[in-house]
Amino acid sequence: MQEKGLTETEIMEIISGKVKSDFTYDSGRILSSMCSKPDRLSMKIYSMFLEKNLGDPFLFPSCKFFEEEVVNMLGELLSNKKAAGFIVSGGTEANILSMWVAVKNSSVKKPEVLAPETVHFSFDKASSLLGFRLIKIGLNDEFQVNVNEMKKRLTSNTVAIVGVAGSSGLGVVDSIPELNELAEENHLYLHVDAAFGGLIIPFLKEEGVEVPDFDFKLSSVSSITVDPHKAGFTPIPSGCILFKNKELIEDFGFEVKYGIGETYKQKTLLGTRPCAATIATWAALKHLGKNGFRERVKYCLKLTNYFVSKIKNFDRVKLVVAPQLNIVGFKTVGLGESLVVKKLREKGWGLTLYKDFIRIILLPHISFQNLEEFLHDLKNILRGLRK
Ligand SMILES: Cc1ncc(COP(=O)(O)O)c(C=O)c1O
Repeated sequence: MQEKGLTETEIMEIISGKVKSDFTYDSGRILSSMCSKPDRLSMKIYSMFLEKNLGDPFLFPSCKFFEEEVVNMLGELLSNKKAAGFIVSGGTEANILSMWVAVKNSSVKKPEVLAPETVHFSFDKASSLLGFRLIKIGLNDEFQVNVNEMKKRLTSNTVAIVGVAGSSGLGVVDSIPELNELAEENHLYLHVDAAFGGLIIPFLKEEGVEVPDFDFKLSSVSSITVDPHKAGFTPIPSGCILFKNKELIEDFGFEVKYGIGETYKQKTLLGTRPCAATIATWAALKHLGKNGFRERVKYCLKLTNYFVSKIKNFDRVKLVVAPQLNIVGFKTVGLGESLVVKKLREKGWGLTLYKDFIRIILLPHISFQNLEEFLHDLKNILRGLRK
């Protein structure tokens, strides 16, 4: 740190210079992010409450109110008015919390968790932190977890099974109803990672799109991760962990030594927490309402169908799987996906490879015009590489 502080002008100059290299949602050229441009009002509100600490309910009691309201709204959307939970920093923390509770609630000495191969790497982090063995289960032809294989891997050490509702790579929704049966028969904790799909699937279903049930409608679902900062159009950081009921987390937590009389247990990983993000999330959900989400999801569906209809006709392009949600993965057969991505990035497209395929996530900051331009550039790049 330097001795004499810089002026505001000097600071702004440095920052503006640096952020120039970033992609922006406003340009419509970010094509592989699970996040989108936050709702305008939620951004305004975020900037107004930066000093508020969700981790200190004694000084900021309103924070608790906003957190509870968001949990209630998301719980209701995911078929459970009695859900309990927390606003956390994102899907990673939500998934870690779910596994923390599953392991703590069991008395198994060498706990094991079964999850699909497609599970987000936050479960590897959870396994490393909490000391459970994470067993990854293979997939079926639709890239969903192979439930028969999962069944075979159950042991007396299994404390939880995990399903994904909107996998990070392809947006695949596992057969959660079958996992629900498995959990029910074996009295297991079932966690559903709907970090991306949680705010999309309920509205896709309304449109008649066939997606498996994935939420608390299924009686053995113990917890669900849903991230407002992904398809909930709120500023980062905003994740949410929902538990089936408050009894599930009653014994869990760490006593806070300060307070105003009553004892209270903190049940989140983080201590000090940004309440600005929670109030902004509350505002986004209230401001958009179900109708706002419906409209956005309908738009994403149209974009996805349009993109798929066009890309299908491209020479040497192969879809990895027919998309269930608004995520499309494709390969450029024999033309080196990493080279194609490099060339697309040189043309100003914000996209990355996911493993060995190109992943496009169709969210409302992308226009049909953006897609047309992208398809045009992709076609030219592929043509050039074939020569
Ligand atoms: C299915 C899924 N779960 C969890 C996460 C982790 O979320 P975050 O990056 O907000 O921690 C992601 C991130 O992409 C995800 O796709």
